[in-house]
This record gives sequence, structure tokens and C-alpha cells, in this order.
Amino acid sequence: MAEVLVGVTGCIAAYKAAMVVSGLRQLGHGVNVVMTESALELVGKATFEALSGRPVRATLFGSDLGHVHIELSRGADLFCIVPATANILAKAANGIADDLVSTVILSFDKPTIFAPAMNPSMWNKPVVQNNVQKLIDFGAKIIYPESGRTSCGEFGVGRLASPESIIAEIEKIISQAK
Ligand SMILES: Cc1cc2nc3c(=O)[nH]c(=O)nc-3n(C[C@H](O)[C@H](O)[C@H](O)COP(=O)(O)O)c2cc1C
Repeated sequence: MAEVLVGVTGCIAAYKAAMVVSGLRQLGHGVNVVMTESALELVGKATFEALSGRPVRATLFGSDLGHVHIELSRGADLFCIVPATANILAKAANGIADDLVSTVILSFDKPTIFAPAMNPSMWNKPVVQNNVQKLIDFGAKIIYPESGRTSCGEFGVGRLASPESIIAEIEKIISQAK
């Protein structure tokens, strides 16, 4: 069994991260959840606290853990950012650490997975694709978004990969790490 850190960012698909957390718990993994301020606008902490059975953290300062970003980083085997906004991809690709999730990404030294979700025009922007490529070059794993109708009513690539495929990918990486 592994310790998985799940980072939830401000995508409309943030609620699907709850299914990922639930699935990981059912497989016997320990899960800690960290969220951005934007994610908290879209989904509540309580859902993730109930599903993980642990406190959910969203701030760097005033935490019950001292160096919260280091404590969470060192305690996990794998970090999966699901869903990942265009913003967090850009921050991670450029070493920006201005909130809890981005600071944990920067301090994390084990496998890191991004599962992006966004409007197709955003996904197709060269700057977003460039950031994705940078993350791959830095060693991150990308779980690519799927094609279909997005929540904003547009069609194209941008829908979050299914929770089942995200869980399967996490399982694969955990078993490879063993
Ligand atoms: C209703 C709503 C839905 C959004 N969905 C997405 C999304 O799916 N993907 C994305 O990259 N940004 C989306 N955004 C924009 C992000 O929330 C915004 O860029 C924010 O600054 C991201 O912050 P974070 O990366 O710290 O979570 C959405 C915004 C709103 C208001």
C-alpha cells in the first residue's frame, strides 16, 4: 500500500477528484488531499476529509503542521494533481511556488502526475502545450485529457481523463516504484 498525495485545483471537474480519492482509499492506500483556493470555490473540503479520513489542507501558513509543504511531501510516495488547471501547469513548469499546492509540487522529489482538464481552446494554446512538454522533460507524468463535450458546452480535447484511468495510472506507477 502507498501514501498518495492528491492536489485538487480550480477546474470544474474538481468534483471528480473525490472519485479518485474514494477509489484509492478502497484499494487500501492512504490519501492526503491539498487544495488551491480556486478549488475550494468549486468543491468543499468536507467531501475530501470524509473520503480520505484526514484533514484537508489549503494554506501554507497557520497550518497544524509546521513546514506543511515539507511534511506532506516527505510523507507521500506519489503526488497526483487532479484535476490540473492551466495555471498550475504553468506554475509547476516554471518553478513558481506561491501557494500550498505549487509549493508541495516544487518540494516533492518522487513521482508527480498531472491530470489536466480545461476548455479545449485553453488546452490547445501553444503556451499550455509548451508547459506540458516542459513538465514531461522535468520527469512528470501527464494523464492526457479526453475529447468530448466540456462543461462550458464546447467540443474538443480538454475533459478530465476518467477517474478509473487516473486510478489505474497511479496504481501502475506505485507498482513500478516497488
Ligand atoms: C466555473 C469555473 C470553472 C473553471 N474551470 C477550469 C478548468 O476546467 N480548467 C482550468 O484550467 N481553469 C478553470 N477555471 C479557471 C481557474 O479556476 C483559474 O485559472 C484559477 O486561477 C486557477 O487557480 P488554481 O490553479 O490555483 O486552482 C475555471 C474557473 C471557473 C470560474
